[in-house]
Amino acid sequence: MTKTAQFRELLNSKELDFLCEAHNALSARIAQEAGFKGIWASGLTMSAALGVRDSNEASWTQVLDVLEFMSDATRVPILVDADTGYGNFNNVRRLVQKLEQRGVAAVCIEDKRFPKTNSLLDGGRQELADAEEFCGKIRAAKDAQQDQNFSVVARTEALIAGQGMKEALKRAEAYRQAGADAILIHSKSTRPDEVLAFKKEWGDRLPVVIVPTTYYSTPTDVFREAGFSIVIWANMILRSAVRSMRETAVHLASAQSLHALDDKIVPVKEIFRLQGADELAEAEKKYLPAIGVRARALILAASRGDEFGALTEKRPKAMLEVSGKPLLQHQIDTLEEIGVRDITIVRGYKKDSIQIPHVRFVDNDEYASTREVVSLARGIAALTENNDSKTLVAYGDLLYKKFIPSMLLEIDGDIVIAADPNWERSSQKGRYMEYVSASEPYRKGLFDKPVRMKDFGPQLDEKIVTGEWFGLAAFSSKGLAVLKSVLASLAKEKDFSQMRMADVFKKLLTDGNTIRVVYVNGHWLDVDDIKDFTEAGVF
Ligand code: SPV
Ligand code: MG
Repeated sequence: MTKTAQFRELLNSKELDFLCEAHNALSARIAQEAGFKGIWASGLTMSAALGVRDSNEASWTQVLDVLEFMSDATRVPILVDADTGYGNFNNVRRLVQKLEQRGVAAVCIEDKRFPKTNSLLDGGRQELADAEEFCGKIRAAKDAQQDQNFSVVARTEALIAGQGMKEALKRAEAYRQAGADAILIHSKSTRPDEVLAFKKEWGDRLPVVIVPTTYYSTPTDVFREAGFSIVIWANMILRSAVRSMRETAVHLASAQSLHALDDKIVPVKEIFRLQGADELAEAEKKYLPAIGVRARALILAASRGDEFGALTEKRPKAMLEVSGKPLLQHQIDTLEEIGVRDITIVRGYKKDSIQIPHVRFVDNDEYASTREVVSLARGIAALTENNDSKTLVAYGDLLYKKFIPSMLLEIDGDIVIAADPNWERSSQKGRYMEYVSASEPYRKGLFDKPVRMKDFGPQLDEKIVTGEWFGLAAFSSKGLAVLKSVLASLAKEKDFSQMRMADVFKKLLTDGNTIRVVYVNGHWLDVDDIKDFTEAGVF
């Protein structure tokens, strides 16, 4: 619903609705988050926040600038207190045009003389405008609006100016006939009697808005039962902010320390949240080139994960949720954190259930009769030539800490794989294992010493096994070209569809390529069964 339509609904609904004062974008957002369905952009508090008096000292375009920020920061409608309309009918026309352009839903104008004085100011001059001239402003406003739902609230200050109930009712009726969408009847009495008497006499000719700043002690049900349309809490946000700002300033000045206050003020991260920092971080991932690493990722997520039974009936295991988001999303978030944003996913089983934003998809529709090498070949074929980027290849059911891919990408080598030296731990689980035999077993101090893969496969003799591959490898552009040609030659063999990664690594080795091995002690988890799945929640 447009903001103007939302405001109309507040005006015309049978319920009593509430507007909360705001004087800038931040307070408007806070009011919206508190649940208010609309905002009163108060002349008093906007001018106070600008450090000037509520006497039209801020120019109307300065007020407009404040409104623009308030409107941009919120989804709920704003009713702006536009004082007397900043001039005659002509100024009001132009004002309405500018308000609509800025997404302000409604304007309230009052029947006083320019420059106005705040209605509650002791000794303030409260001169009423000529009623007929004011009707001209209302007509001009209504004629100027482009959006039929834009609302004009006519405020009579007859009671404030001491002109009595009869004058208030006479003026309100004239303003109704001039086309106002609602009447605001203002009173500075400490009791609600005046506004209640007005409402009784007025009936339901137009919705009536009130501002119980001085008669705030009236139970709200009294307003509800009297049939008022909207109650405006006109200045409470600024008043509470003033107390809080002063307490903090006075304390800091005298104590010269934040200690006693730190739980009384919000953390800096709350300010970031109110500014919408998260949205910018998301947008940066989408639009900015990555800083630091130049890498992309290819994730293989075509298989169902039969071990999961009914859990993977509607989605592949990579889409099973862990801590509120799919496994695959966890992996993508980790990659994005280290700056890998160009991500391709090979999908197969229940491919439409893979709903992940900002990634590219490649399909292996023969997922049921093929294994991961076919998915890898499809994925690699879809990658563009990119000579200065590394490519990470990863299984889709994997969780890992971000230092692991960072290390693989950093280390020199055209083909680099991660291997966990604690392979005995996983081998007890009795599942298909991809063992690595490397030139050096893991030991402390191996840091930076190049370790090469010597053999790879599920059936290596335990005596020569030095680690377990868990599904993460990095290829330089040269390494990727080599991988491509190996895949092309393997594709000619008749059992290509059933090949596994062991076949690829073995072929790479027999062709004389160097594959570097980086040992990683834990900090990863491949989710192969329900038990892993439970562990993943903890991971
Ligand atoms: C305002 O909030 O600026 C108002 C209401 O106009 S009052 O201050 O009561 O006049
Ligand atoms: Mg005002």
